[in-house]
Amino acid sequence: MARTKFVAGNWKMYTTSAAAKALAAGVREKLAGESQVTVALCPPFPWLTLVAETVKGSPIAVGAQDVFPEEQGAFTGEVNAEMLLDAGCRYVIVGHSERRTVIGENDDLINRKVRHALKAGLSVIFCIGETLAERDKNNTEAVLDNQLTWGLKGVPSDQVERLVVAYEPVWAIGTGRTATAAQAQQVHVFIRWRFSQLFSNAAGQALVIQYGGSVKPDNAAELMSQPDVDGALVGGASLKADSFVAIVKAANP
Ligand code: PGA
Repeated sequence: MARTKFVAGNWKMYTTSAAAKALAAGVREKLAGESQVTVALCPPFPWLTLVAETVKGSPIAVGAQDVFPEEQGAFTGEVNAEMLLDAGCRYVIVGHSERRTVIGENDDLINRKVRHALKAGLSVIFCIGETLAERDKNNTEAVLDNQLTWGLKGVPSDQVERLVVAYEPVWAIGTGRTATAAQAQQVHVFIRWRFSQLFSNAAGQALVIQYGGSVKPDNAAELMSQPDVDGALVGGASLKADSFVAIVKAANP
C-alpha cells in the first residue's frame, strides 16, 4: 500500500521568535512546489502562532511538542489540545524519549495525552524507542511492545488513522549515531505487525511510521528508501532550513 511520506521537524527547546520565523519562512520558500511529502514543523509553544502564520497558505503543517490531557482548569503551566488547535496546530508529539526520561513521563500519562489529543481532533506523533542497554539485552521488541500496548490503550478505532508512530531509538537521538537502514526497517516491520494486532490489519498497513535519531541529509534517503520507513522525525537537522528541506526532498527521490 502506498503511504505518503511524512517528515516533521522537532525544534525542541531551540530558537528565538526571530529565528523561528526565519526558519519557517526559509522552509516554506525552499519547499515551494513540493507536494508529495507531508511536512510539519514543531516549534516551542511560544512560537506556534507565529510559525502557523508564517506557513499559512502553504501545505506545511504545524505541530506542538507536548500537550496536557485535561480540559481547561487549574493546571499551572500546562497547555491543552484545544489551545493547540486554536494556535494553528494539526499535530502534537507525544511520548518523546526526552519527556519520558528527563521529565519522567510514564506510559499512563502518555496514554492520557494520546487519547486527549486524538479526541480533540489533533493528529499524534507517538514516539517509542529502546535505550542502548535494552537493545544490548535483546529487549528491543519487548520494550516497543510495552510502549505501544500501554501508550495506545483505549484509542477508539475511528481515531487510529490520526496516529503516526515515530520509532526513535534513544541511543540514536542527538548522538550522531543512526540506526542502519536495515535496523530501522526490521524494527518498523515489528511495529507495523504489533499495531495491526492492536487495531486491525488495515490500520497497520495504513500506519505511517517515521524513523527518528540523527537523521541528516546524507542518511535520509537510504533510511526512507526502506519499504516500512515512511518518513522521519528530525531534531538537530531541522534547525537549518537547508538541511531540513534536503531531508524532505530525500523522502521523494
Ligand atoms: P535528532 O533528534 O535528530 O537531533 O537526533 C530526533 C528527535 O529527538 O526527535
